[in-house]
Amino acid sequence: MPDPANLMESIVALCKRRGFVFSSSEIYGGQAGFFDYGPLGAELKKNIRDCWWNDMVRRRDDIVGIESSIIMHPKVWEASGHVAGFTDPLVDCKVSKQRFRADQVFFSRVVVDGQTVGYVSALESDRTQADLQERAEAFKRKKAIQGKLEAVQPHDMTEAAAAEIELIPSPATGEPGSLTPPRAFNMMFETHVGALRDASSVAYLRPETAQGMFVDFKNVVDTGRVKLPFGIAQIGRSFRNEITPRNFIFRSREFEQMEMEYFIHPDADWLACHEEWLTWCRDWLASIGLPADRISLFEHAKEKLAFYSRRTVDIMFEYPFGVQELWGIAARSDYDLKQHAKFSGRPQEIFDEATKSKVVPHVIEPAVGVDRIFLAALCAGYAEEDVTDEKGNVEKRTVLRLSPRIAPVKVAVLPLLKNKPELVARATELYRRLKRKYAVFYDEGGAIGRRYRRQDEIGTPWCVTIDFETIEKDGSFTLRERDSMRQRRIQEAELFALLDEQVH
Ligand code: GAP
Repeated sequence: MPDPANLMESIVALCKRRGFVFSSSEIYGGQAGFFDYGPLGAELKKNIRDCWWNDMVRRRDDIVGIESSIIMHPKVWEASGHVAGFTDPLVDCKVSKQRFRADQVFFSRVVVDGQTVGYVSALESDRTQADLQERAEAFKRKKAIQGKLEAVQPHDMTEAAAAEIELIPSPATGEPGSLTPPRAFNMMFETHVGALRDASSVAYLRPETAQGMFVDFKNVVDTGRVKLPFGIAQIGRSFRNEITPRNFIFRSREFEQMEMEYFIHPDADWLACHEEWLTWCRDWLASIGLPADRISLFEHAKEKLAFYSRRTVDIMFEYPFGVQELWGIAARSDYDLKQHAKFSGRPQEIFDEATKSKVVPHVIEPAVGVDRIFLAALCAGYAEEDVTDEKGNVEKRTVLRLSPRIAPVKVAVLPLLKNKPELVARATELYRRLKRKYAVFYDEGGAIGRRYRRQDEIGTPWCVTIDFETIEKDGSFTLRERDSMRQRRIQEAELFALLDEQVH
């Protein structure tokens, strides 16, 4: 296996080579923070969305789905607090003209024999501390300072005292004096609605899908299908003008969210409900094949909670570039509904049958990004292995161990030889029947081993090979499994049963 730094490179290369992900507008040099999904990527993404929608909405009795518009009334974002508070701290480097998120720029005092002799900085990575230590040692050598260097103490730029800012080197130039103090940068993309372009026509591309569920709360309640506790779910695009989009599709400026607002009675045990949703989300990640040993939890410190939250726990995933947030589960209290009631002048209440009273419910919100699950599945599934063929030759195979639930192609149909019409006819017939229900690939070109490898690389869980036994004996064909590479004979009915069981 490549080491973690090269692993990301290999995954990005595979995504481009096999048509999972491309840079957006690539022929014009690309657009930072935006991506296109190619034929296999679009299938994989759709499968992630479908699994979530089926499990979250269709298979439950207490959750309904909606699709709200991307551009909403600008008052929505005033009420939600996004206009005033949806900011990241930004620092500029006046020399290089680069911009950084202040909480991703780390610095440390260089302390020798108890005296601060200078400052070093490094961009956040999984070796921030080591980078700072190396830079502190290099600083001491360069300045020929004698004495004992103390271990570095990393702080991010939001913690820098005013007097320190001009002493901290810019990560772009390595020299002090060019960084500005952190300032709040609002991440919402602005646009204008209608023919006039003035302050009255300003609107925003939504930075989260969640507000759609709050703004449509009364509409859903009034259609009469729901009673507490119940959820409203939505899948859709969100937009954030991230200061530093990075790590491929992990942090981008246009991405897709799957969010659900679970409304509970204000007197209900919100902590227990929060825990239940944490468990549900972890189980769901396991059901689409993400390994439990790469998943952990991160409880946000009370003083660092988002403005709407009373408790947030993130489900973290171990990506090659570090352990990072995959899914946020927040207890949003009645903050949003009360804000919208205040700003719209319309009460946001529900009549609770159990207590015969009108209440403003509280909310538990599991919010996850499709693109982050997509990347987690690729990172967990990607492997390079040495395999030995029937003739004893060792060769490398690249394999994507994707769960059959989300794999873009479920089964590949391969006639053993393409110049035998009877094999091709039987294979085509099977391919057509399978295609009505599943994403299937037909491939007759090249040696059978090479065709298996092509499917391994895109994560196809099964290949079926139509050979002479199929047409001359009992109609069975060879089923070859991606992960074990084992082969066995199988009948068509068994194949359909296997797919039915494993794919949905
Ligand atoms: N409604 C709450 C909310 O939006 P968030 O933690 O800002 O919370 C929820 O976002 C999820 O959306 C994150 O856990 C992540 O999976 C995904 N996400 C957020 N920003 C993203 C970005 N710039 N690129 C890709 N995914 C992102």
